[in-house]
Amino acid sequence: MPTPHIESNKEDIAKVVLMPGDPLRAKYIAENFLENAKLINSVRNMLGYTGTYKGKKVTVFASGMGIPSIGIYSYELYNYYDVEKIIRIGTCGSFNKDIKLLDIILSSGAYCKSYFDVLLDGVDVDFVQSSGELNRLIMNKSKEKNIDLKFGKTITSDVFDLYCDDIEKFRDTFPDLSFLSVEMEAFGLFYIAKKLGKEASCLMTVVDSLYDKHSLTSEEREKSLNEMIELALESII
Ligand code: HPA
Repeated sequence: MPTPHIESNKEDIAKVVLMPGDPLRAKYIAENFLENAKLINSVRNMLGYTGTYKGKKVTVFASGMGIPSIGIYSYELYNYYDVEKIIRIGTCGSFNKDIKLLDIILSSGAYCKSYFDVLLDGVDVDFVQSSGELNRLIMNKSKEKNIDLKFGKTITSDVFDLYCDDIEKFRDTFPDLSFLSVEMEAFGLFYIAKKLGKEASCLMTVVDSLYDKHSLTSEEREKSLNEMIELALESII
């Protein structure tokens, strides 16, 4: 039952999907965390794999970058493949003084000024919450594993903020300074999940900060990303 963007059959895809932005991260997760992982999509190189984690069937499927891309994949997975839960596992920046590089953040919801919702449904929504139920599973698991998980609001932007001429001006276009993270996909995922009556959460590792400018080693990045991936997997078994 292929779609314009996904070549998989319905039974190839699990009810729970982990969704990194980067296709090669999907491959990395499949190769390093899943058992019996099989490639189930390579259309446009948007790699998807299905395998098991501690006996539970799980799919890892890349979203690409930005609301339009995650909007397409989340819509097709929920609507045509009966996926019930998607956890985005991505990277983000932060403008918040309380957030440090490599912190792991769980998004409570995403604020966004995009035209996506207007074009899709003729409504103009500024903020969409993530799934309370799925968030609770993730928070409980983080406590069990002693992971210091930050929980708060996300800014989803149509531009990569680091390319703005004046990043403080960019920050000041948002309603307040309480946002913990800035990235480019969460709103699209949460909006589609809400529209279709499904569940969505978003975990992020902080890789850029307005206030924390020390440089990261690739080992540090990998350790934090692995911790986030494991937290997502442990939360859904
Ligand atoms: N995505 C990922 N990392 C980032 C971003 C983003 O939008 N902005 C700053 N760092």
